[in-house]
Amino acid sequence: MKRFENKFAVVTGGNSGIGLATARAFVDEGARVLITGRNPETLAAAKETLGGRATAVQADVTKMEDLDKVFESAREQTDRIDALFVNAGIARVVPFEQTDEATYDAIMDTNVKGAYFTLQKALPLLGEGSSVVFNTSVAGSMGFPGFSVYGPTKAALRGLIRVLAVELSPRGIRANAVAPGPIETPLWGRVGLPEKDVQEMGGAIGEKVPMGRFGTADEVAAAVLFLSSAESSYIQGAELPVGGGIGDV
Ligand SMILES: NC(=O)c1ccc[n+]([C@@H]2O[C@H](COP(=O)([O-])OP(=O)(O)OC[C@H]3O[C@@H](n4cnc5c(N)ncnc54)[C@H](OP(=O)(O)O)[C@@H]3O)[C@@H](O)[C@H]2O)c1
Repeated sequence: MKRFENKFAVVTGGNSGIGLATARAFVDEGARVLITGRNPETLAAAKETLGGRATAVQADVTKMEDLDKVFESAREQTDRIDALFVNAGIARVVPFEQTDEATYDAIMDTNVKGAYFTLQKALPLLGEGSSVVFNTSVAGSMGFPGFSVYGPTKAALRGLIRVLAVELSPRGIRANAVAPGPIETPLWGRVGLPEKDVQEMGGAIGEKVPMGRFGTADEVAAAVLFLSSAESSYIQGAELPVGGGIGDV
C-alpha cells in the first residue's frame, strides 16, 4: 500500500516549483491532492499533468475570500485534510534602503498573512493525525543581502510554528516546516533582478552550500512527504533543513 493511499492533501502554490513537485509526490504516493495558485494557465497545466486525482482552485492567499473558496472546495471532496503544505510564497531581492512600502506589504502579506490564514481557514478540516508543513527558508536564520523582508517573513513562520505546536498538539495535529536552501525553481526568475545578477547571486549562494550545488524541488518534496506522513509521528514544531548543509555546518 502506498504511503498516502486514501489520504487528502492540499498544496498552496501547487502550480510551480516546490509546490508542484510536492503535489506530484503526493499523487505518486496515492493521495488525492488539491492545488492552488494564482496563474490560471500554469494551474490548468499542473492539474493536467497531475492527472485524475488532482483538483485545482485559483486562489490568491492574500485574499480571505479566495482562501474560503479553497477550503469550500476541499470540503466538497473530503471531510478531512490529512496533509496541508503551506507553500505559496514570493521573494524579492531589494536592498534595505530601497525597499518601498508596496514591496514590503506584498512579501509580508503573501508569506506571513497568507500562510497564517491558510492554516486558520483549513483548521476545521484538520484533525487527529493531520499534518501541516510550512515552507520556510534558510534565509529565515541566515543574513543574505537583499532579503530584509523575505528573511523575516520566514523567521516569522518559524515563530508561528512553535505556538501552533503547543496549541494544536491537544487536537493531534502536527505543525512543522521544511527550510530549503537554494532550490532550482522559477522563483529565482521572479526576484526582480536582471538574469545576469540572478546568476551572480546564485553562484555566491551556491558557494556557501557545503554540498556545492542547488537542490531540486523533488528533494524538498521528499522531506515534505516525510513530515506529512506517520513516519514523523513524534516530530512536532520542528524545522527540517533541506539545504545541502547551508547554515548547519
Ligand atoms: N526556490 C528556493 O530557493 C527556495 C528556498 C527556500 C524557500 N523557498 C520557498 O518555497 C516556496 C515555493 O517557492 P518556489 O521556489 O517553488 O517558487 P515558485 O516556483 O515561484 O513558486 C511559488 C508558488 O507560490 C505561488 N504564489 C505566490 N504568491 C501567491 C499568492 N499571493 N497566492 C497564491 N499563490 C501564490 C505561485 O503561484 P502563481 O505562480 O500562480 O502566483 C507559485 O505556485 C516559497 O514559499 C519560497 O519562499 C524557495
